[in-house]
Amino acid sequence: MAETAIRLRNVQLTLGSGRSTVHVLKGIDLHVERGESVGIVGPSGSGKSTLLMVLAGLERADDGLVEIAGTPLSGMSEDQLAAFRGRNVGIVFQSFHLIPNMTALENVAVPLELAGASDAFERATRELGNVGLKDRAGHYPGELSGGEQQRVAMARALAPEPAILIADEPTGNLDQETGRQVADLLFAEQARRQMTLVLVTHDPALAGRCGRTIAVRSGIIHDDGLRDDRNDEARGLRTPSPDGAPDGANAAAQAVR
Ligand SMILES: Nc1ncnc2c1ncn2[C@@H]1O[C@H](COP(=O)(O)OP(=O)(O)O)[C@@H](O)[C@H]1O
Ligand SMILES: [Mg+2]
Repeated sequence: MAETAIRLRNVQLTLGSGRSTVHVLKGIDLHVERGESVGIVGPSGSGKSTLLMVLAGLERADDGLVEIAGTPLSGMSEDQLAAFRGRNVGIVFQSFHLIPNMTALENVAVPLELAGASDAFERATRELGNVGLKDRAGHYPGELSGGEQQRVAMARALAPEPAILIADEPTGNLDQETGRQVADLLFAEQARRQMTLVLVTHDPALAGRCGRTIAVRSGIIHDDGLRDDRNDEARGLRTPSPDGAPDGANAAAQAVR
C-alpha cells in the first residue's frame, strides 16, 4: 500500500493579533501519498502560502493534526522541528531567498554544513552541477539571472535529499520560458528522486503538470481533484479499501487524468 507523506486533519490556524487577527486556515483535511505531485491553486490571500508553511513545520497549527512522513509535528520542540524539517522537507520560494553575501556554492553548502555534513562542499558542488550551474559556483546571487538564482535555490532545497519538496510560486518571478525551464527541472528531479511535491502556483499550466490539483478558497479546500475518498479516509469517515481499488467516482476521475 502507498505510504502517506502528508496527513492533515482539521487544521486550524489564526494569525496576527488584535484587529489584524485572521482565521487563515479553517479546517484543512489533506492526504498526500509518497511520490505524489500536488498543485495548489486559489485566489491571492486564500491561505496557500500559510498552508505550505504548516506543511513545512514553519508555522504551527493551532488545532488539528499535522503528520509528515508518519510523524506528528505537534509534540516536537522548536529544535526537534528544525532538525526534522532539515532532514525531510526542502523548500523553494518565489523570491529565491538566497543569502546575498554568499556565493552560489556557499548558499548550498552552508546549510548542509550546519546540519553536520562533513562533505558539504562536495555535495553542494554536485548539486549545482545537477542544476546546470557548475560554472556559476563562485558567483554571488546578484551576479546571477532570476532563473539561475532559482536553480541555486533548488540545489539548496534538494541537497539534503528531502522526501518532500515544497514550492511556493517557484516560477512567479520568472519570465515564461525561464519558468518553464525551472519547472522542467523541478518535475525531473521529483521523478528521479521519487519525492513528494507540493507546489503553489497561479499558472494553470504548471498546476496541470501535477498529478492532482487542489483549490483553496478562504482557508478551506474548496475542491480536491479526484481524491475525496482518500480525504474521507484521512478524516476517519471510511476505511481504505483492502486492495486500494478506486470506487466508481474515483475511477471516473482517474479516466480523465
Ligand atoms: N502573520 C500574519 N498575520 C496576520 N495575517 C496574516 C499573516 N500571514 C498571512 N496573513 C493573512 O492570511 C491570509 C492568507 O495569506 P497567505 O497564506 O499568504 O495567502 P496566499 O498565499 O493564498 O496568497 C491573508 O489574508 C493574509 O493577509
Ligand atoms: Mg502566497
